[in-house]
Amino acid sequence: MHCNSIAATILGLSALATAAPFSMTNQSTPISTLSLTAQLQLADTALDRYQLLTDQDFVFNYNDSATGLATRKSFPALVGTGASMAIAEFGPCAMASLHIHPRSAELFLVVSGQITTEMTLESGAIDPSTGKTRAVRTVLGPRQMTVFPQGAFHTQINTECSPALTVAAFADEDAGASLVVPQTLGLGDDFVVPSFGGVIKGEDVEILRGMVPQSAIFRVEECLVKCGMKKRGV
Ligand SMILES: *[C@@H]1O[C@H](CO)[C@@H](O)[C@H](O)[C@H]1NC(C)=O
Ligand SMILES: *[C@@H]1O[C@H](CO)[C@@H](O)[C@H](O)[C@H]1NC(C)=O
Repeated sequence: MHCNSIAATILGLSALATAAPFSMTNQSTPISTLSLTAQLQLADTALDRYQLLTDQDFVFNYNDSATGLATRKSFPALVGTGASMAIAEFGPCAMASLHIHPRSAELFLVVSGQITTEMTLESGAIDPSTGKTRAVRTVLGPRQMTVFPQGAFHTQINTECSPALTVAAFADEDAGASLVVPQTLGLGDDFVVPSFGGVIKGEDVEILRGMVPQSAIFRVEECLVKCGMKKRGV
């Protein structure tokens, strides 16, 4: 009896849950006005999705892409695949801002040139020889790859005076990125000051906010000077 009433309640609830969307299916927005990505996401089956895609929709041209990032938004054919991929050319002395990808691990491959990567895995991943946070460092040449586990803080730098071409593959159609330093400094002073042990105070926090690079990739001055691409302090 008791079990039955629980079952009835669950069934009743699930009936309500399925009934609600049906009563709202009078669409005032025709589906054809939605983005192709949205239409693909609403398709009932993979076969229905394929009907919405031309052969050309299955081609992504990185040369025409300002970001070098093929996600389900820039490359709708990715809808339903659970994957995305980026190409990044690291110019001489280019460094990627310390970042994480909130929704995916990253496979990072060097096609040409050389890239040094460093990451910290998660709190508690300690270097036994120092007792401090372990920083995993790799130096990758052509056709060498590393993996950054989902959520691992990581950064890449081209310390050479010639460019490096790299590819990053993700297990999410919209892996996303969070820049650790600018986002940390996006918190209020009452959180930033104690988080840095009180070493940076008051106006210095604002100065720091103004000085840290906001972009995902920037050039390292020391390296540019070494490469003769910049005079010191200019
Ligand atoms: C659906 O929407 C149209 C236009 O807003 C309206 O005229 C029509 O009565 C609606 N149909 C139902 C079944 O609610
Ligand atoms: C893309 O650009 C590269 C050089 O930047 C060039 O070698 C390649 O042919 C281009 N690809 C297409 C499809 O145009």
